[in-house]
Amino acid sequence: MKKISSLVTIAILAGVISVGVTVIASASEHPDWAYPVNPASTAVVQADAGLQHVPNSAVAFTRKQFTTIADPIPDWHPEEHPAMPDIVFKGRPPQVFSCGYCHLPTGAGRPENASIAGLPVAYFKQQMLAFRNGERPGSEPKRAPQTTMIAMAKAATDAEIDEAATYFATVKPVSYIKVVESEVVPKTIVAGWTLKRAPDGGTEPLGHRIIEMPEDFERFERRDSRTPYVAYVPVGSIKRGAEFVATGGGDKLRQCAVCHGPELRGLADVPRLAGRSPSYLMRQLYDIRSGLRTGGVSALMKPVVVNLSDEDMIAIVAYLGSLSP
Ligand code: HEC
Ligand code: HEC
Repeated sequence: MKKISSLVTIAILAGVISVGVTVIASASEHPDWAYPVNPASTAVVQADAGLQHVPNSAVAFTRKQFTTIADPIPDWHPEEHPAMPDIVFKGRPPQVFSCGYCHLPTGAGRPENASIAGLPVAYFKQQMLAFRNGERPGSEPKRAPQTTMIAMAKAATDAEIDEAATYFATVKPVSYIKVVESEVVPKTIVAGWTLKRAPDGGTEPLGHRIIEMPEDFERFERRDSRTPYVAYVPVGSIKRGAEFVATGGGDKLRQCAVCHGPELRGLADVPRLAGRSPSYLMRQLYDIRSGLRTGGVSALMKPVVVNLSDEDMIAIVAYLGSLSP
């Protein structure tokens, strides 16, 4: 009797363990480099050293002004975008933070969020609904930029979303991302929800990853909309991605340009892909393939991604990131 019950116990334990393993496996499948999470203890309080500057800007801001999400955003280059509606510039704190804090006044965005300049208004609004309805949770529940975006979509009114969508649709997309093929990359840590060159330096093999980071972390921290980025991609991936995108990997129904436009700059309500952050694009392909990103008309994308390998996706986003927007 004892023997049987201990067998049962073992069986139950084994069941529990295998369930546990499955859960862990699916939670850690997503590529960490595309979903960086700040370590718990990176918040370093820095002294406010007075007015700060960035290149080619006549204005100056204090550290508090560019690190406080509830304040009006630092607009370093007011000449490069139209006048911002309040929701983009100031938000409506404490419920809604300014869209421009994360996406920048130009909508150029940053690797941890999304470039949203020039997106079709209908697509933009549909995605706000998708965030609101739990249809874009993202693969990494600890990624605060994503959970904050979801909170913003829930708190913003339809009128505010309308204003933001109309504003960003009029701004011309730009990209400051340089895509570089390399076998070796600088070692990185995570800070500001993005990858950052490790303070101790050093290099490591890239392997099957993309390492995208600001070239100048100070400008990134100051939220300079012209911060340059580098995205290291595997050797040969740009050409491989170009071939895949052009031929749909040998499947006409997957040819990206049919839906995303001849230069991949968007078509009707379908969003542009050219010149966007490879990390952002990877998260989208990955989340659509895993079934986490639904909503909108994402059902049209599902057959495109369902049979892609991670390597295919890396090559595709390396190529798309290398195009001018
Ligand atoms: C805390 C930072 C943050 C703020 C503030 C923020 N967003 Fe976002 N937003 C994000 C992130 C992160 C994503 C990308 C999520 C992902 O990787 O899937 C995103 C994505 C989006 C997208 C989807 C883009 C696409 O191509 O599908 C839209 C649209 C958007 N945001 C609009 C807004 C609007 C409008 C506001 C202001 C009301 C706003 N965001 C405020 C972080 C933010
Ligand atoms: C049959 C039409 C169709 C084809 C072919 C297609 N797409 Fe899409 N794609 C869409 C639609 C529609 C959306 C918007 C989905 C939504 O509403 O959520 C989209 C969204 C995306 C997104 C998310 C964009 C964003 O702003 O978040 C990416 C990335 C993407 N597609 C990549 C590709 C790539 C790469 C290819 C080719 C290998 C491709 N698509 C082929 C229709 C298509």
